[in-house]
Amino acid sequence: MTTVHLNLGNRGYDINIGRGLLSRAGELFNLNRRVLIVTDSGVPSEYAETVRMVCKDARIITLPEGEGTKSIDSFATLLNAMLSFGMTRTDCVVAVGGGVVGDLSGFAAASFMRGIDFYNIPTTLLSQVDSSIGGKTAINLSGVKNIVGAFHQPKGVICDLDTLKTLPDRQISNGLAEAIKMSLTSDEELFSLFEKEEITENILEKIVIGSVKIKRAVVEADEHEGGVRRILNFGHTLGHGIEAAEGGNLYHGECVALGMMAVCSEEIKKRLIPVLQKAGLPTGYDGDINKALSFIEHDKKCDGSLISVIFVDRVGSYRIEKMDTAGFCALVLEEKI
Ligand code: GLY
Repeated sequence: MTTVHLNLGNRGYDINIGRGLLSRAGELFNLNRRVLIVTDSGVPSEYAETVRMVCKDARIITLPEGEGTKSIDSFATLLNAMLSFGMTRTDCVVAVGGGVVGDLSGFAAASFMRGIDFYNIPTTLLSQVDSSIGGKTAINLSGVKNIVGAFHQPKGVICDLDTLKTLPDRQISNGLAEAIKMSLTSDEELFSLFEKEEITENILEKIVIGSVKIKRAVVEADEHEGGVRRILNFGHTLGHGIEAAEGGNLYHGECVALGMMAVCSEEIKKRLIPVLQKAGLPTGYDGDINKALSFIEHDKKCDGSLISVIFVDRVGSYRIEKMDTAGFCALVLEEKI
């Protein structure tokens, strides 16, 4: 097991990465209290059951799989479950699932009795390398993604690599996109790994550890996204536009892959294309780019009429440029992704 400590003073926590860790949750987390375990119907039920077995007094709540679960209704369902379970301020919530389960249950934990302990057990590559770390919790409202939420750091995270074995290849690619993204802005060595190696189980472990270390450094430097945390949005401005235009046809990571293509130097693009292809990610978009661009004005990263756009000209470095939406859209059209 590799343990990466995220140092945020008294809100710091360990991110434990390894195999066979679900059954060690009782040793790695304080589960000697009432525990609400939140999972969804797409996650093998034995994962939550394995965690329940090591708790003193736990209930499992299984929500429907999908982005629709990140809703105010599911939020209320969780709060009501906590209330009827008789949970108090000293009890805790454990998320077992992907980003939807983690974001929703983290927000319910942040809100119940003004904040109770939350642990995250991400079971998708995307959530292991990104969303489970850093304390962003949220739900969607009226079609606007992540518009209601809170910063609420988990008390601990377990990335059990064995849970990745049941993921379809497309879901692995989905997570790889975020890891490739972080390596491009922050870690030349990790990017070289993508260039040189085939994606085996052992390489996946290195990718998770490398990505978690990048995310740790970014969150330690800028917990509330006042500055450097914005680099995690590399490829996301256009990526979110494409995701909205595609209405669920393309996965988040696939859209981020396309989004990165528009904001890289030619030299980087030459290296990025084979890396994305190896990871099973798209390198060109044949959908309606104008429709995607029309969604960008609604992106949450808009700052008045200006957007902070992250560019990578050299692997392992970045620059942030404030641009107006029209300028960004013109740049995307010129890049012809
Ligand atoms: N997923 C982006 C962030 O945590 O800031």
